[in-house]
Amino acid sequence: MLVFDQKRELKNFLDKERENSHAIGLVPTMGALHQGHVSLVKKALDENDTVVVSIFVNPTQFDNKDDLQKYPRSLEKDLQTLKLESPKIVVFAPTISAIYGDKVNSQSYEFDGLDKVMEGAFRTGHFDGVGTIVELLLKTVAPDRAYFGEKDFQQLQIVRKLVELKALPLEIVGCPIEREPHGLAMSSRNERLSETTRKEAGFIYKTLRAAQEKFGTESAKDIAAWVQSEFDKNQVLDLEYFQIADEDTLTPVAKRQEKTKYRAFIAVYADGVRLIDNLRLN
Ligand code: PAF
Repeated sequence: MLVFDQKRELKNFLDKERENSHAIGLVPTMGALHQGHVSLVKKALDENDTVVVSIFVNPTQFDNKDDLQKYPRSLEKDLQTLKLESPKIVVFAPTISAIYGDKVNSQSYEFDGLDKVMEGAFRTGHFDGVGTIVELLLKTVAPDRAYFGEKDFQQLQIVRKLVELKALPLEIVGCPIEREPHGLAMSSRNERLSETTRKEAGFIYKTLRAAQEKFGTESAKDIAAWVQSEFDKNQVLDLEYFQIADEDTLTPVAKRQEKTKYRAFIAVYADGVRLIDNLRLN
């Protein structure tokens, strides 16, 4: 399996792939690969001739130094996982300086307010960091399609906006959330949970499912109050936010509109680890 750590070499390789009319798929990751990532890779393999998987823990999207330091890193294991999937996979695993040179800074973006709520409100600068690395990856790889998981649904909508703003000629493919058997959304951060907490964290999805049920008959305000009261009773999990929002604009629900698609978004701390999840409500 080819592994590149320099943009120029990756670009040269991909130029030749394009000359052979090979469709190129990109799966951007921060490594510590799990079944959620593998499902993105499998979809990309079904739809493209060559699949680039990038593995890069992007420092500019972390608002918390401790979170960046503790983010799981397992490059050798990740390469083994990908090797087993297909010889069509090419890995891009650059160093920080190969991406940023000596200025590890984000660009600033105007994402039409999509970045001002939820993750954007609680993690200062996060989406500027995501925008910076995703723009660079999309411009370096110039894929026909790029694959993002719906677990980071806000990120997915922001990436769609980025592609529109920069007029990049590719398709963004959103892929469903993969869950552990008890419902916890798969995430590299789950590795940092103790076994007991990991089991308890199934409560997040259970609560989202209950909120989905309630959405048929109860107001968003009452559902949010109920969710808060459920977490107040939980000894292990701390709720950071629960928000019901319009899936397209991410605007918090005020007066419900019949044709609007709503989604519940949640962020929770468990063992000091921040977990996010979301669920379509209607
Ligand atoms: O979702 C992620 O893993 C990251 O935010 C991404 C898209 C790879 C950018 O660093």
